[in-house]
Order: sequence, then C-alpha cells, then structure tokens
Amino acid sequence: MKILVTGGAGFIGSAVVRHAIAQGHEIVNLDALTYAACLDNVALVADDPKYAFEQVDIRNRAALDTVFAKHTPDAVMHLAAESHVDRSIDGPADFIETNITGTFNLLEAARAFWEGQGRPDTFRFHHISTDEVFGSLGATGQFTESTPYDPNSPYSASKAASDHLVRAWAETYGLPVVLTNCSNNYGPFHFPEKLVPVVILNALAGKDIPIYGKGDNVRDWLYVEDHADALLTVLQKGELKRSYNIGGENEAQNVEIVKMICAILDEKRPKDAPYADQITYVADRPGHDQRYAIDPTRIATELGWRPSVTLQEGLELTVQWYLDNEDWWRALQNRSGVGTRLGTKA
Ligand SMILES: NC(=O)c1ccc[n+]([C@@H]2O[C@H](COP(=O)([O-])OP(=O)(O)OC[C@H]3O[C@@H](n4cnc5c(N)ncnc54)[C@H](O)[C@@H]3O)[C@@H](O)[C@H]2O)c1
Repeated sequence: MKILVTGGAGFIGSAVVRHAIAQGHEIVNLDALTYAACLDNVALVADDPKYAFEQVDIRNRAALDTVFAKHTPDAVMHLAAESHVDRSIDGPADFIETNITGTFNLLEAARAFWEGQGRPDTFRFHHISTDEVFGSLGATGQFTESTPYDPNSPYSASKAASDHLVRAWAETYGLPVVLTNCSNNYGPFHFPEKLVPVVILNALAGKDIPIYGKGDNVRDWLYVEDHADALLTVLQKGELKRSYNIGGENEAQNVEIVKMICAILDEKRPKDAPYADQITYVADRPGHDQRYAIDPTRIATELGWRPSVTLQEGLELTVQWYLDNEDWWRALQNRSGVGTRLGTKA
C-alpha cells in the first residue's frame, strides 16, 4: 500500500513511518517541518526506495493537490498537527489554522483526488486524534467511542473540530474514513517539551523536575511504538466510518510517572542523591483536565489489538533511549520555547 503520512517528521508520525516501511508499505512523508519536527526521526528509513519526503504545509491547498497528483496514494494517515497544550494556551491561532483549516484542506484535496480516481472504496483517510476531545473524567469511568465530546483546551477543541469535519466528509461525500482517539504517548523521539522527556532531561541536568499542581492528574500512558502498530492495524482492518479508542491499559498520576522515571535513572545512571529530590511542584496549567482513561474494548475485541509493553517496561526502554541518544535531544534544546514554562498566559 502507498500511504501518505502527514506529520511524519514528528513524534508519532515518524514511528508510523518507520513501522510502515518495515511492514513493506511505500511512504510519502508530508511535513511542513515546524519547530516540533526533526528529520533525524526518520533517518533509519530515509534512504529506503519505498520512502519519499515532501516539505508541504497542510494550510496550502494547491501544494496538497500537487502531492496527491504526483504520488497517487492508496491511503492517507493524517497526523500533522500543532500538538502541545501549553502552546495552545499562549497562542491558539496556529492550532485553529493547522488543526482545523489544515484538516479541511487535506479532506478537500483527498476528496478531489479520490473522486478523480473513480471513488475507489479501497481508499482510506485515517484521521489520528486524541482522547482529550472527550474532556475530563472524575475518579471513575472510561472514555468509550460514544462518549460525548467536551474539549477544554484550545488544542483539544481544535482536534475535536477536525474530528467532526472528518465524520462530515464521510457522511456527506462518502469519503472512506476511519478515526482513532488515543491517550498520552511516550517513547523514543519525543520532543523535549513534553512531560516524559522534560523529566528525564531535567533530572540528568541536575535541574528542578517540575510537576504541575499537585501532580495527581491521571493519564492512560501508551508506548509510541505500540500506538504506531495500532494505527497501522486500524488502517488495514478498521471498519469504514468507525472510530477506535486506543489506550495503554496503564493509568497513572503524573507524580507516579515522574517517580518511576527517577527510580529508573537511579538504577541506570546513579548519583549521590536520588533524582526524586529534584522534584518541584509548580503552578498548575489553566483548565488542566483531571483524568483521562480509555476503554479499549472495541479495538481489542474487533481488531484483536492490545499494547505489547507495560508502563514500567516502556519507561525503561524510553529512559535508555534518551541515555543513548544525547546528540538527538541536545540539538533540539535550542528550539524556541524549549526549556521554558509555557501555557501560563490564560
Ligand atoms: N502526543 C500524544 O500523546 C498524542 C496522543 C494522541 C493523539 N495525538 C495526535 O497525534 C498526532 C501527532 O502527534 P505528535 O505528538 O507526533 O505531534 P508532534 O508535534 O511531535 O508532530 C507534529 C508534526 O506535524 C507537523 N506539522 C505541524 N503543522 C503542520 C502543517 N501546518 N503542515 C504540515 N505539517 C505540520 C510538524 O512539523 C510535526 O512534524 C497529532 O495529530 C496529535 O493530535 C498525539
């Protein structure tokens, strides 16, 4: 299958690109190369004859038409997005333009291409979204695919809007779509502004390890390589017009994640004092959702997919990857906003 992956130079998109090439698919990686992108993430496959790269912004409709005409993909996996909640609080405009208008452009370019090909029912538009569209849970319950949308941040609201557009393009124009809503990812190549890499890198640098609020916010953590595997499963086996929730079966409070990482570092890179001594509680994020939890029943029972690693195993792999790949993360630490507290302007 020839797959057009948008956002393939980002964290999750690059994992999808690496997995898809390994499975024998042809890949066209379309990415604007924003601050969050890094082509080193796909260096392993960049010389593969099955791989092509197009530096294109999804806000540019004409450029998207050119890519579809040139590469004639069998499927689209749409991951390109502005993805950092804290940045969406300080500057929501980019999130509206890329996540909503950009998705609209991509849907229209895909529809024009698909209609021009005679509307093949084998074509797929796979929209990759987040569990944050469902809002915040209390102490109990889990998000299912029929949980009402209730987004709270500019990021999650923009992703919710894009999900609605994708559904509408399926219902109105018959575009063959599948959707996925996934929980928090972690793993190799995670940009150093997100919680897990911030904890690892601040710990190693001897800096404060910041925890927002009381650190009791709960997320359902999924190893990124498992997410990539789940996405390729849904693309190939998912039912048309159906959405699938993807979770790691690994709920944990932020403070628990931080302490697990510190304990792993105590083992792998011991020093005089425990890394947990560097933990510092800082002002909470405005509108910080309390708890997300995924009910993975649909993807498990209908598609036979389950995560392959536990949170402890995934965090050990992740910490080891950061210890082994200092050149990768050092090069990204100069990028705008990295290492500073964002998302306090509300
Ligand atoms: N990270 C998570 O925990 C998580 C969880 C669930 C869903 N998601 C979704 O998965 C997708 C990928 O997330 P990620 O964490 O890999 O994000 P990321 O920020 O690491 O990567 C996003 C990529 O999109 C590209 N991009 C941004 N704007 C673009 C534009 N206008 N045109 C073309 N390319 C553009 C960037 O250059 C970057 O390479 C997003 O849609 C996100 O909403 C993420």
